[in-house]
Amino acid sequence: MTAKRVLVAYGTKHGATAGIATEIGKTLREDGLEAVVVRAGEVDDVRGYDAVVLGGALYAGRWSGEAESCADRNEINLKHRAVYLFSSGPVDSSAEQQAIPPVPGVARAMQRLGAREHITFGGSIGAGTPGFIARAMVRAGKGGDFRNPERIRTWAHHISAELGPAC
Ligand SMILES: Cc1cc2nc3c(=O)[nH]c(=O)nc-3n(C[C@H](O)[C@H](O)[C@H](O)COP(=O)(O)O)c2cc1C
Repeated sequence: MTAKRVLVAYGTKHGATAGIATEIGKTLREDGLEAVVVRAGEVDDVRGYDAVVLGGALYAGRWSGEAESCADRNEINLKHRAVYLFSSGPVDSSAEQQAIPPVPGVARAMQRLGAREHITFGGSIGAGTPGFIARAMVRAGKGGDFRNPERIRTWAHHISAELGPAC
């Protein structure tokens, strides 16, 4: 039996989304899948995978350009695979309290790719996050790490269950 192969690709500016992707990849591997985690900007060919998880950070109401370009570049082949999308954003507990719908760019990508689902995870801004706005948010006490490993792992287990056993 060969384990199903899953590509976990992420678009990030400051690394928080990479952490989410790494957690997803680790959980999929624990479930017996073969998972590879890479930056979305490096994905040129998805044909070696049974499924693709593609995530991106949210900035000013938009999905990561890196994730969006990855979706565009690989659209034809993604359409023939099980695709799951995620966003990493809110720096508060809102993503825990209700399902946050995809921003318009992600909603369009879901349609185009025939993605199975989308989830929004909390994001992270820390003292080390560069940029004027990030620093101002941290100074105002609005930073923090709102990535919830348990919620991320639960979603990854759900993907493993949907993809099913090795073929
Ligand atoms: C300038 C700026 C704009 C942001 N805009 C949004 C936004 O529109 N929606 C949202 O949910 N989160 C927003 N965030 C929070 C980021 O999405 C969050 O910090 C995310 O985890 C960053 O991911 P990254 O480190 O992988 O780039 C913003 C953060 C910054 C610094």
